[in-house]
Amino acid sequence: MGERLHRIRAERQGSVVPGREIDSRLSEAGIRSRLRTPGFWAGFNLLDVTDSTNRCAMEMAESGAPHGTVVVADAQTAGRGRLGRSWVSPPARNVYVSLLLRPDMSPAEGARLSLVAGVALADAVEAMGVPGALKWPNDLYLDDRKAAGILAEMASGADRVRHVVIGAGVNVNMVPGDFPPEISGKATSLRIRSGRPFSREELLERFLDAFADRYGEFLDGGFAALHEGWDRRDFLRGRRVRLRRGRGEEWGTAEGVDPEGALRFLPDGAAAAEPVQSGEILEYGR
Ligand code: BTN
Repeated sequence: MGERLHRIRAERQGSVVPGREIDSRLSEAGIRSRLRTPGFWAGFNLLDVTDSTNRCAMEMAESGAPHGTVVVADAQTAGRGRLGRSWVSPPARNVYVSLLLRPDMSPAEGARLSLVAGVALADAVEAMGVPGALKWPNDLYLDDRKAAGILAEMASGADRVRHVVIGAGVNVNMVPGDFPPEISGKATSLRIRSGRPFSREELLERFLDAFADRYGEFLDGGFAALHEGWDRRDFLRGRRVRLRRGRGEEWGTAEGVDPEGALRFLPDGAAAAEPVQSGEILEYGR
């Protein structure tokens, strides 16, 4: 793959809080020993730097890497966001992780896996003392700002998924000056929100455990089994939103997410809400 597979380097000078180890070096054995769910994960690829952990995991998938392969990088040079955007990915600050899955399910079910990952991410962050909100379809918000995003990429045949890569980027220890001006007014991190740094390693491990748990729930009961985990953290419910689906855009009200994972959207002037399976919220109000 070109990248060296080795331990993530120690925090760069200046990013370690004196007297406190924020991130020890990562190793597969270390991660496995701390996970509750080590059996779920097939292998860990711990990269110093890569262009994109999602790209890397997709390439590994095409080469036959197994279900449960994890790719983590300390930094990305071309982190991918949704809708062709980029994801700001400096070293020694955040978590960039991609999960390769080979579920035996339809593409429509596979598309729900990014929501499953969102619930797992919210579980992980909450377990670290930071309650977050989930903005349909793929964002984790702290207060009124985005702290994490999920990008799912899927390869499928006519009616079955071949593989899915779920990528999560979490702003853990970013400080305000780390964000480029174009997103500095909209982005946050766990550290900015809480006024203290967090262990990236702990967040990664909590996310992996939460994902393994939530994935099992999803296989057993569909998104309905996780619905409560989304519903109580729903960022958009009751808000006015500008929704883009396909080529069209319209204003309406978000009325929550249904047990299938669709956004209940009440278009302005309409009598009833309709389920939206995929789309993008371009703007929201109070
Ligand atoms: C978004 O636009 O909100 C989704 C951002 C997803 C970023 C993560 S970082 C790890 C993984 N690798 C990527 O290139 N993108 C995802």
